[in-house]
Amino acid sequence: MELSVLILAAGKGTRMKSILPKVMQPLANRPLLAHVLKTARDLHSVKTMVVYGHGGDVVRRHFEADELGWVLQAEQKGTGHAVQVALPQLPTTGKTLILYGDVPLTSVSTLQILMNQVRDEQTMGLLSVHLENPTGYGRIVRNAEGQVQRIIEQKDATESEKAIREVNTGILCVPNRHLHNWLPRLGNNNSQGEYYLTDIIAMAVADGIGVRTSHPAYAWEVEGVNDKLQLAALERVYQRQQAETLMKAGVTLLDPNRIDVRGNLSCGTDVEIDVNVIFEGEVNLGDNVRIGANCVLKNCTLGEGTIIRPHSIIEDAVIGQRVQVGPFARIRPGSELEDDVHIGNFVEVKNSRFNQGAKANHLAYVGDADVGARANIGAGTITCNYDGAFKHRTVIGDDAFIGSNSSLIAPVTVGEGATTGAGSAISRDVPDGALAVARGLQRNIERWNRPRKPGK
Ligand code: UD1
Ligand code: CA
Repeated sequence: MELSVLILAAGKGTRMKSILPKVMQPLANRPLLAHVLKTARDLHSVKTMVVYGHGGDVVRRHFEADELGWVLQAEQKGTGHAVQVALPQLPTTGKTLILYGDVPLTSVSTLQILMNQVRDEQTMGLLSVHLENPTGYGRIVRNAEGQVQRIIEQKDATESEKAIREVNTGILCVPNRHLHNWLPRLGNNNSQGEYYLTDIIAMAVADGIGVRTSHPAYAWEVEGVNDKLQLAALERVYQRQQAETLMKAGVTLLDPNRIDVRGNLSCGTDVEIDVNVIFEGEVNLGDNVRIGANCVLKNCTLGEGTIIRPHSIIEDAVIGQRVQVGPFARIRPGSELEDDVHIGNFVEVKNSRFNQGAKANHLAYVGDADVGARANIGAGTITCNYDGAFKHRTVIGDDAFIGSNSSLIAPVTVGEGATTGAGSAISRDVPDGALAVARGLQRNIERWNRPRKPGK
């Protein structure tokens, strides 16, 4: 049966205490709804629809590229009402999986098991879970034979029904033909005056449709997010899952509870990651890469054997093999470090290329520069790349030696094998092999009397 996915996401999320609509709240740096949409894609649904309401325009605009069916539920009159407003967009054949924009971590395998129970129009699937404390959830009412009869909401339940520990996760898989038949017949005669989607269970039973239940592999798969505490709890679950995936693939994590992957991290063999490292966007680490504590790596590729020492930040950069960076280094967007480059402490590199074996080991700013192979940049060197209006390039030749505390006033070229004297302000090109000294000459005054305090 062809699969459609319907995601209910009209809730306001008052308890988030945020301007951002609830389904836009970030989990691992992506909106909650993005996680659910990813799941829908992985399930190969032919059609995915989102019922939206509060803050809807922000949500729609964010997912414009996704080719989704959008259904506005201007007034939220319950989960049944939410599906009702989507009916005109729902195919008449096939089946629909109902998911929630604020339940981000349901696994594809759990949903597949649920959906495989619905192979024809004689059955529907219901995802339920047994909880120690079922308070607040709809309870699954079964008959003496153990067959599901109906769902009763907490607020409508009798004391004995409240004792039932099997609860409704809200996630359902239903043949479309029945949704078209049942939903228009829902009433709102209950304690909340809402149209309950859960009432379709009793309708299924009345129509002789088998209600099959299955359960998630883990309880967190069906946990929703209503406040920042639950959001943080699911963030930890998500991060733990990713840490376990990495470790199973052979990555050494010094503490799997202290790594955050907010994007995609791929690793070669024998990669070692120390504590409190944050990965964002797309990060690729080659074999034998080591990342020290407290680093942030965003959209970058690191070659085999490269070592990033603690407290370093790397963003939008391509880094070769056996490179050493840090501690306390910052590699900014547009930077390329070839094999065997060394970037040491308190060095900032921006939009620059370091050719093979070039070094800047201490205290430097290298921006908009091309640094030749094996060139050495002394401590305190600054590329003066900005004149207040425009950025200019600095070109340093192979095997050049930039003396400590040089200012390279761009645009400027230091030739191959050239040297600049320490403390020089270099504003004119330096020929290959030359020494450039650009600083005041030293004057010595003999027997200099230093100032003294009176009486001393
Ligand atoms: C619902 C179920 C309950 C189940 C629980 C699991 C019903 C009547 N009850 O209860 O059996 O145990 O979920 O968490 O279905 N939404 C809309 N439009 C609406 C109302 C809700 O889009 O008019 C969306 C919300 O954004 C939310 C989801 O549906 O994502 C669930 O709504 P909520 O009001 O939280 O349902 P519960 O009362 O928790
Ligand atoms: Ca509710």
